[in-house]
Amino acid sequence: MQNQSKNHSVINRAIRHIDHITYVDHYSHEKDFIHRWEVMGFHEHVRVHTERYPASHIALTSGSNPDFPWETMTGLSVTKDPKSPINEFVKRYGPGLQHPAYNVDPVADMEELQKELVASGWVFMTPVLTYEDSNGAKMKQMFVAPTLPYGPFVEFAQRFENAKREPFDGFDVRNIDDLYEEYIQYSKHLDSKHHRRSA
Ligand SMILES: [Fe+2]
Repeated sequence: MQNQSKNHSVINRAIRHIDHITYVDHYSHEKDFIHRWEVMGFHEHVRVHTERYPASHIALTSGSNPDFPWETMTGLSVTKDPKSPINEFVKRYGPGLQHPAYNVDPVADMEELQKELVASGWVFMTPVLTYEDSNGAKMKQMFVAPTLPYGPFVEFAQRFENAKREPFDGFDVRNIDDLYEEYIQYSKHLDSKHHRRSA
């Protein structure tokens, strides 16, 4: 009973707000996508290119917040690579929302939170992934497994400030590639489960 209330207290206080929402689209639609968000006051904040799973990942932000480098963030991932898991999503389900990311309070113990969530029935495709940017700010992320192969999933993101009180800003190419590695493995597992069922 004591354990149960401790679990609830970890989970209850962890999520603060939406960190970002990321979409996938056809490579040729990038400009139109950005234009549609610019109409609503968003601008390109950062753009990174992944290498292991080549793609462009673009963060569009709007507004400002004293605790954060932005108020709202919309992400877009696009690639020319026909074999990319991004285009696999677009091919199977069409362009759209790939993942929402919930922001986790930096005071929460992310590993403990994942343990409690797993005990409550959540299924993750990654452990807690930790990264540090060149300015010393840190980010922890964990990703909930998709229920459809190459389908949508959920992220939990925790950002830690560096000594200058600057939070981890935007995306990191290593974490995106690490995520895609797990996403492909998990999607293959879902695909094979489906094939076994329909055989
Ligand atoms: Fe994300």
